[in-house]
Amino acid sequence: MCTVFDSIFSKTADNKDYYEQARFIRNTLEIDSLVPGTRYMYRIDNDTIVRYFTTAPSDNNWSAAIISDFHAYAPLPARTQSAMNMLAMLEQRNGAFDMVLHVGDIIAWGGSYSFWRDLYANEPFKKYVWAGVNGNHDNMSRGYAHQSNQFFRNTNNNPLNGYEGEIGVCYHFTYGNTLFIMLNNESMRSDEGLLKAQQWVRDVIAQNPHRFIVVMEHYQWFFGESGKTSQYDRWRQLFDECGVDLAIAANNHIYARTNALFGGVETDGSKGTVYIQTPSSDNERGQELKEWTENLDIIKSRWSEGAKTVGALLLKATDNNLTITLYDRDGNTIDEVISEISAKN
Ligand SMILES: [Fe+2]
Repeated sequence: MCTVFDSIFSKTADNKDYYEQARFIRNTLEIDSLVPGTRYMYRIDNDTIVRYFTTAPSDNNWSAAIISDFHAYAPLPARTQSAMNMLAMLEQRNGAFDMVLHVGDIIAWGGSYSFWRDLYANEPFKKYVWAGVNGNHDNMSRGYAHQSNQFFRNTNNNPLNGYEGEIGVCYHFTYGNTLFIMLNNESMRSDEGLLKAQQWVRDVIAQNPHRFIVVMEHYQWFFGESGKTSQYDRWRQLFDECGVDLAIAANNHIYARTNALFGGVETDGSKGTVYIQTPSSDNERGQELKEWTENLDIIKSRWSEGAKTVGALLLKATDNNLTITLYDRDGNTIDEVISEISAKN
């Protein structure tokens, strides 16, 4: 019986205040013995729930859409619609992908159960498996009255391989040749919390050797307005030590990315970590760029459309590299980086 959403103060779709009643039995299922490179369908409850997912192909050629910060909010359905249209545009440009990665803040108030339910009724949630991280908005209820990773935990069925306090919230999984490690910034605000997460990341990487290592968290590596350092400083040493290839963040609503960095400087690409952060995608809560005054030597690209920003990334994997491309809502290619990972692992 899941009660974490019950009697949470929220808003109805017609913008009225209310306390949402939401108690339910939460069921999960796990499927094993799957075949690589196969599109599966599953049906539950006399076909009232029909979902699809694709297992990673054995030739390691796969693709993922990456999107974040659309802050689904019942009174303003255009936010979700903008993000869903963006995913449709990625499909139009590239064909169907194999999965969707999200970098948090997909819900305005994670404590509002109906926001999740209505979001998950959209087509991309039926067609693809999604893997995401907990953002500050997913972690809160209206007005920050409650803050809890239980909202994210109970609306997803993440692998139960995280660390103490973060089981079902932080997790890792492999897709083809790539190890994904998914973090929760809300538990890393203190130095103590950060150390705990970093020890877990070290252990996961040591125990799961893979060709490519991708780490995802919600909070930005850089403040895109000026280029000022943010979470980059807290992680770069570990990423250097552990050979992390790609680090994906969000939250700032301004796209920013580096080339491969090692020891704080750009490399020839044969080693180091590409840092990238997604733009927002709700056509409402974007941020204006300001004068680029910091980290001019390591940030290669910034992008925002101001308040009305809609953008997303496409990640394409092969045996030898990961290519990440930023698209705008019209399907224009804005920026691209290739992470040549083969040489270092
Ligand atoms: Fe956000």
